[in-house]
Amino acid sequence: MLGASGEAMAIAVSRAGGLGSFPAAGSTPDQIAAACAAIREATTAPFAVNLFVLDPARPDPVDVRAAMDRLAPWRERFRLPPQAVPNQWAQPFDEQFAALLDIAPPIASFTFGVLARERIDALQARGVFVIGTATSVAEARAWAQAGADAICAQGFEAGGHRGSFLELAPEAAVGTLALVRLIRRAVDLPVIAAGGIADGAGVAAALVLGADAAQVGTAYLLCEESLIAPAWRRAIEAAPDDPTRLTRAFSGRWARGVENAFMREMRACERDVPAYPVQNALTQELRAASARDGLADAMSLWAGQAVRLVRPGRAADVTAELWGDARAAFGAAARLADGRGEFPA
Ligand SMILES: Cc1cc2nc3c(=O)[nH]c(=O)nc-3n(C[C@H](O)[C@H](O)[C@H](O)COP(=O)(O)O)c2cc1C
Repeated sequence: MLGASGEAMAIAVSRAGGLGSFPAAGSTPDQIAAACAAIREATTAPFAVNLFVLDPARPDPVDVRAAMDRLAPWRERFRLPPQAVPNQWAQPFDEQFAALLDIAPPIASFTFGVLARERIDALQARGVFVIGTATSVAEARAWAQAGADAICAQGFEAGGHRGSFLELAPEAAVGTLALVRLIRRAVDLPVIAAGGIADGAGVAAALVLGADAAQVGTAYLLCEESLIAPAWRRAIEAAPDDPTRLTRAFSGRWARGVENAFMREMRACERDVPAYPVQNALTQELRAASARDGLADAMSLWAGQAVRLVRPGRAADVTAELWGDARAAFGAAARLADGRGEFPA
């Protein structure tokens, strides 16, 4: 979870028997190498490294100016100086990929796009297991055709950015329940269910649907190892029922978070902002200033639909509890199938 977890979370989850993942999309090649070395030093358990598949951004300067003008009143509110055009829109993917190939972690996962077959071949030749994120059957097929080893089926409920790369409209988004079943039927690869899974019953449900594993993000946000700012933490702790919405306003890519003032006020123009990573880079200082002031108004409060289920604790305990409760849910479901007992609340 870029911006929310780092190597400490990955180490804790992998040590506890889950598959910890290092979010490398915001890192330079040297930073990726250092994080992987630290994880390998701390545990011999498998771990994953995650990257965003991005082409270099070449935005129209007129669109960039318009986006900066839209953000100017927000920068004034947070006492930021007028915005300068950033030197870099995102870390260059080609350089990150070269580093990843060199490091050869046990598992690499990708979102926002599909890798070329030669790149998947190169990773696999180095012994890397490749996971591609799909939010539709067409995207799962694209990853399968490119040679991926497994598909992460990311449903509409998921927190943070959606991995979509073929169908970007939120109206076309499919929920985890349907998506896992559809991808399972369409593609002969292991499927990892993601989106809205935040407790043991959710993990058990994903496996009953035919998923080979469950991917959990939001449920780790209040962990001791989580890197989220205090205002984000408070927004999650105090989240009302049904608090999350999809927005394009922070980054130029649809993402789910707890609704705040920025999301509400930018809603009318969110479809006009430049595509990721341009808008993301343009809002970076504003989001940091909002966090600095301890205000949730202009930070991205990424979280999934199941945010009300999140509990604090150590990542190792959350991992153990997810699996322990999933086993209990399987037992309850078996008793239910036999006409004995009720499913626990
Ligand atoms: C704060 C946050 C950051 C995320 N960052 C990434 C990321 O860097 N790469 C990625 O592939 N997915 C990212 N995701 C999506 C997760 O991998 C996962 O699909 C999602 O959290 C599952 O849904 P859930 O949040 O309902 O558990 C992020 C999710 C959250 C909540």
